[in-house]
Amino acid sequence: MHETPDTTNDTSADGSPNASGNGDGDGSPNASGNDSANGNRAIAAERVLVLGGTGKSGRRVARRLPGARIGSRAGTPPFRWEDPTTWGPVLEGMEAVFLCYVPDAAAPGAPETIGAFSELAVARGVRRLVLLSGRGEERTVESERAMRRAGAEWTVLRGSWFAQNFSEDFLLDAVLGGEVVLPAAPGVAEAFLDAEDIADCAVAALTGPGHAGRVYELTGPRLLTFDEAVGEIGAAIGRDVRFRAVPRGRYAEILAGAGMPPEVVALLTEVFGAVLDGRNAHLTGDVAAILGRAPRDFSAYVAEAAATGAWGERSPTPSAPRAPRGERSPIPPTLNGPRGERSPRPSALNGSPMDGR
Ligand SMILES: NC(=O)c1ccc[n+]([C@@H]2O[C@H](COP(=O)([O-])OP(=O)(O)OC[C@H]3O[C@@H](n4cnc5c(N)ncnc54)[C@H](OP(=O)(O)O)[C@@H]3O)[C@@H](O)[C@H]2O)c1
Repeated sequence: MHETPDTTNDTSADGSPNASGNGDGDGSPNASGNDSANGNRAIAAERVLVLGGTGKSGRRVARRLPGARIGSRAGTPPFRWEDPTTWGPVLEGMEAVFLCYVPDAAAPGAPETIGAFSELAVARGVRRLVLLSGRGEERTVESERAMRRAGAEWTVLRGSWFAQNFSEDFLLDAVLGGEVVLPAAPGVAEAFLDAEDIADCAVAALTGPGHAGRVYELTGPRLLTFDEAVGEIGAAIGRDVRFRAVPRGRYAEILAGAGMPPEVVALLTEVFGAVLDGRNAHLTGDVAAILGRAPRDFSAYVAEAAATGAWGERSPTPSAPRAPRGERSPIPPTLNGPRGERSPRPSALNGSPMDGR
């Protein structure tokens, strides 16, 4: 079960409706997120390290912070989570870190790695850590605690399902192939979150006052089922895009049949099966509490992504030809060449011969 002191929907110290306030429920001795004196000091963009700074969230954070340092394998200096010798160089001169861990803050070993990195960051002079976490993922709470224990001012941003998964990540090929398959409870609703909102919230927490010691659950403004979400995308691009919910066991079979390593199959099945069981089917007001404006609606995301050609064609019309189903590789790009360097979440589950259709 979700741990009560670390979850949201209680009332924060400043009266914002869903921000979970101090979040010090684990009693960690060094959690200094409440230090309002430090928490109110602004931090300059060029003192911010953005880990995952080329990804869906991180690159939007970096775009808002000209001069911030990008932390990724492609960064200068390069940063690799699996190589602690690369951690010190990127921390040089930094005061705040957007901590975006891959593959997932709920992955085995994530709490240890995030904790070790956070401790090094504090030892090197970083005073503010903002962790991108997952909403409803029980194991991410351990990762959050590990970050909080390091002794910096901290903020946790627990994201709901990113809208951009459909256009920039593991669901892109599935959308283009006409069918998205996930281990979701039938008819489950999700509060799809726009990565632009994540970035705005992250920048507020990284550079501004008032967010130290807070655990936020970031959601979009509207609950949609996956049927409704892919239906909106299909309508925008003039294609028939469907959603199919499958039991966890079937999902694991599909991933394994597509060639995924057992540990990746286990992680994806566990994380997706958990967060799509209905526990996240509610909205929070945390984006508005941070930004003073409503979060972006899924329809706005779809319209913009379609207009910019995210699904292949610019300004598509309903009469645009539909891509044939089942012609794309059933192997997720995470396992399939250069795109395999992306987060190992599944992609093309459409039309897989392994899917028995
Ligand atoms: N997707 C969702 O719906 C969702 C929901 C809630 C929470 N989250 C959390 O969001 C985080 C992922 O954020 P995202 O989706 O914005 O990222 P993303 O789009 O998957 O991008 C991953 C980033 O990490 C870098 N990276 C990949 N492998 C790396 C490695 N071994 N060492 C260092 N950097 C590496 C990539 O750059 P290079 O390739 O240049 O290294 C890239 O900048 C995860 O912690 C996940 O738990 C996701």
